[in-house]
Amino acid sequence: MIPDVKTTLPGVVWLERYLSLQEQKLLLARCRDIMDGPAGGYVPTVRGGGKMHVRMVCLGRHWNPRTYRYEDRRSDHDGLPVAPVPVAFVSLAERIAGDAGFAFQPDVCIVNWYGPDGRMGLHQDKDESAASLSAGSPVVSLSIGDTARFLFGGLRRRDPVEPMPLASGDAFVFGGAARLRYHGVSRIMPGTAPEGLGVDGRFNLTFRQY
Ligand code: SIN
Ligand code: MN
Repeated sequence: MIPDVKTTLPGVVWLERYLSLQEQKLLLARCRDIMDGPAGGYVPTVRGGGKMHVRMVCLGRHWNPRTYRYEDRRSDHDGLPVAPVPVAFVSLAERIAGDAGFAFQPDVCIVNWYGPDGRMGLHQDKDESAASLSAGSPVVSLSIGDTARFLFGGLRRRDPVEPMPLASGDAFVFGGAARLRYHGVSRIMPGTAPEGLGVDGRFNLTFRQY
């Protein structure tokens, strides 16, 4: 399928309907296995003591929501070692980044599950290595399931945000000058997943190069 490319801002590439329904089904099955498997998803507690509104699993490296650092074991939760990023996920993320014009060797994948009340506050992704951030290595995001009201802002928290409805199968890439832009998810739109996918809720995968 030829992706419908939207470049809204420098460093941002939105590839709408990037994945076919069949590809979405395969990815959905993998995400369910990961979320429900050993060292599966949990609802993290962040630095300030509040609970996140997603279930999270990190692959490759664990992002510790209490320290905002990456580590080899889930020390804020059950101490289990982090599973590697599946080879097929790495290839897919590299392909997406390439289509978006970025060179990329992802070694971290964060899988988040949003139920009907899932959301994520505005934040920057800035916990990767200084080398990765200064190179503008992108974040590659893939969405499966219900559409999210994704908010994309500027480099300061108070900058205006633009809502971008990320639908199932969409890839959204932000790197270069956009790498440190604030973003979040204000809500999920229940019942908007493609018919035939068989999911209520949303998986989001973000790939990064630590
Ligand atoms: C994130 O910023 O980590 C997740 C974004 C999304 O769920 O679309
Ligand atoms: Mn983020």
